[in-house]
Amino acid sequence: MRNGSTPSQIPGPAVDNDGVEAIVAAGGLHNYQLKLHAEYGPVARFPLPGAGLAVSVADPVLLEATAKINKRPEKLFEFLAPLQESGNLQTIPADEHVPWRRVMLSVLAGRPSHEAHFARFTALAAEMADRWEREGEVALQKDLSELSLRMICQYALGSGLASEESVGQVVSAFEDVLTEYLGRMYQMEGPGQARAEESLAYLRATVDQVLAAHKDQEERNDLIAALVQAGESPARIRDTVLMIMMAAHHTTGVAISWMLYLMARHPDAAKRVTAEVDQVLGDRAVPGYGDLKDLVQLDRALKETMRLYPPGPYGAREATEDVVIGDYEIPAGTTIFYPFWAVHMNPDHWPDPQVFDPDRFTPEATAARPRLAYIPFGLGPRSCEGAGLAMVEAELVLATLLKRFDFRLAPGQTVTPIERFVLWADGDIRMNVTPRPKN
Ligand code: HEM
Repeated sequence: MRNGSTPSQIPGPAVDNDGVEAIVAAGGLHNYQLKLHAEYGPVARFPLPGAGLAVSVADPVLLEATAKINKRPEKLFEFLAPLQESGNLQTIPADEHVPWRRVMLSVLAGRPSHEAHFARFTALAAEMADRWEREGEVALQKDLSELSLRMICQYALGSGLASEESVGQVVSAFEDVLTEYLGRMYQMEGPGQARAEESLAYLRATVDQVLAAHKDQEERNDLIAALVQAGESPARIRDTVLMIMMAAHHTTGVAISWMLYLMARHPDAAKRVTAEVDQVLGDRAVPGYGDLKDLVQLDRALKETMRLYPPGPYGAREATEDVVIGDYEIPAGTTIFYPFWAVHMNPDHWPDPQVFDPDRFTPEATAARPRLAYIPFGLGPRSCEGAGLAMVEAELVLATLLKRFDFRLAPGQTVTPIERFVLWADGDIRMNVTPRPKN
C-alpha cells in the first residue's frame, strides 16, 4: 500500500522555513540527517536549503529505485554555475552528459592509463615525503590536496601547473570560490564577492594557460585531447578542466588525510597495514602499480575511512518521472537527497557504525551487504568518474607514506569534521612525522 503521492505526505518534520535553522541547531547537515532518519524512518522529507522540500533516502535497498536517474536538481548546484561557461557540468541534461561521461571514463577509468601514470605519481608522492622529512610537522589536508592537484594536472591535463606557488594558489582559489558561493546558500560567512571573483579569474587564467601549453605539444593522449577529438566545444573543454581540477584534488586529499588520522588513532589497525606494506614493498621505498592488488589491509582501511569520513558526504537527484521508493510514490520533479554519510552509518548494515573496523571490508562481509550500503563515490549514471583513479592515487600515496613514516597527531588540537563541499577537518590535521627505523 502506498502512503503518499506528494512529498508532503512522506513523514518528516513540520515545515515553516527554509530549513537552515534546524540544520544549524543539529550541528550540521549530517547530524540533522541522522536524527531525521532515526525519527522518521528511511524515507523522510525535509526542507533542504536552496531546494525546497526534498525527500531523503538512507536505506541502500530503497536507493536502488533511484539508481538510474540522470538528473541533478539545478537549484542545489547553482553555486557551481559561476565556474562554468557552457552550462553547469553538475547539472547538464542527460543527452549532453552521456557522451561527455563516456569520454571522461575512457580516459580516467582505464587500468592501462593508471599504470602509465603510476611512476610519475609515485615521484610526486616521494617528493612530498622528502619535504615532510625535513619539516617534521605537517598540515595533512593542505599538502595532500596540493599533491592530488599536481597528480590530476599531470594525468588529465598533460602538464604541471606553471609554477610551484601556483599549486597552493589554485587550491586556495577554489576554497575562496566554493566557500563564497556555497556559503550564500547556507548563510555562512565567505571571503566576500570581490575576493571570490578575483579567485575565479585566477582559476580561469590558469586553465587558459594549461590549454595554451597543451596546444604547443604534439602528441597527446590525455583528457583534453580526448575531449577535442570527441568534438566538445572549447568552452565545455575549459569547463571540464576546471571541474576536474576541483573535483579531483580536495576529495582525494581529504580521503588520504582522514586515513592517516585514523591510523594515528588506531595503532593496532595501523600496525597491520604497515606490516603488509613492509612485506609487499620489501626494501623498495615506493610501490609499483602491480603491488596495489596485494595491499589488502590498506585497501580495507581506506574503504573503512571513506565510510566513516566520506569526502563527498551528500548527493542529489531530481526525479524525472514518478518513482516508487518503498511505501511511497514520489512525483516527477521531486528533489531526492542522498545522505551518503548517513547511509554509511545505517546500523542495519553497519553494526556499531561509529567504530573503525577495516574488517568490514573482507570479501565475505562485503558480499553480505546490499550493493549501495557503501557509496563514497555516489551511484548510477552520475556517479564519480574519477573513482578508480582516486583509489589508485590514494593507495600509492598511503603506501609510500606509511612505508616511510610514523605518524603522531601533533599535540593540543581537536580534529572536528566540517561539512563544506567536501568533508574537511576544521583547521586541518597537524601531524608529526618521523622516519621509521629501517630494518
Ligand atoms: C577519494 C576521492 C573522491 C571521492 C570520494 C569522490 C566522490 C564523488 C561523489 C560523491 C560524487 C557525486 C556522485 C553522485 O552524485 O552520485 C562525485 C562526482 C564527480 N567526481 Fe568524484 N570523488 C573523488 C575523486 C575524484 C577524481 C580524482 C575525479 C577526477 C579525476 C573526480 C571527478 C568527479 C566528477 C567529474 C564528478 C561529477 C560526476 C557527474 O556528474 O557525472 N572525482 N565524486
